[in-house]
Amino acid sequence: MSKADLILEKKRHGEKIVAITAYDAPTARIEAEAGVDIILVGDSVGVNVLGYSHEREVTLADMAHHIAAVRRGAPEAYLMGDLPYATYDTPEMALASARLLRDAGADCVKFEGAQPGLVAALVSEGFDVCGHLGLESQHQDVKRRQGKTAAAAAKLYDDALAGDAAGQKFLVLELVPQELAGRITRAIKSATIGIGAGPQTDGQVLVVNDLAGVTTREFKHNRRYGQVSAALRDAVSAYANEVRNGAFPEAQHAFHMAEDERAAFEA
Ligand code: KIV
Ligand code: NA
Repeated sequence: MSKADLILEKKRHGEKIVAITAYDAPTARIEAEAGVDIILVGDSVGVNVLGYSHEREVTLADMAHHIAAVRRGAPEAYLMGDLPYATYDTPEMALASARLLRDAGADCVKFEGAQPGLVAALVSEGFDVCGHLGLESQHQDVKRRQGKTAAAAAKLYDDALAGDAAGQKFLVLELVPQELAGRITRAIKSATIGIGAGPQTDGQVLVVNDLAGVTTREFKHNRRYGQVSAALRDAVSAYANEVRNGAFPEAQHAFHMAEDERAAFEA
């Protein structure tokens, strides 16, 4: 059974799927050790790690660079990578972009929007595909909830079924009402991975910076399980203080020349 099919088995057995983002090798290693099912190298790398102001600034080279790092940190993990903005405008572009991410180490490629034709093209070339509906950060300027009206929900529902029929294996549902997420989840074979989409999806995904408290902004969809930013600030401040007051380094942090070498050196 393929890695993706092993994860999809969880949907059939009613077991939750755990997904989380990673952007670097040490974080990916920790996540793999913690036993997550899916590591997503999202284009959220741009805002969370690269200091960009928008996901749209992320390039294929950025994605390949970070996917390769995550792969080195988690050699056995199931890795998903985002196709960045404007790199999948045609099936040919999508295939070329997906090959770059696969060469960097991705097992699965994800892209935003209802494009069953692209899903089919990628699947026919042997790619695992993850759809992404609801909030599409690449295509929507304001990060607001989606699918709130009956008409918008019906459109999202139809889009989800079309992607499923085209052969996608996973579907991220971002900031959609939980009723809609539940209905989609029950209607499709693909495993739904929710973020801000309630408890009825087959799995959940969060941005590691948000859940670990690297990010200091609050998001309604997030739960903060750690205080990494505060811990890092405390560590750096303590170091700076000790350098300035002479408490660091101590004898054990340094070494001496051998006596004869020192004498020869000083002669
Ligand atoms: O880029 C990302 O981190 C994502 C998740 C929010 C699903 O696409
Ligand atoms: Na993304």
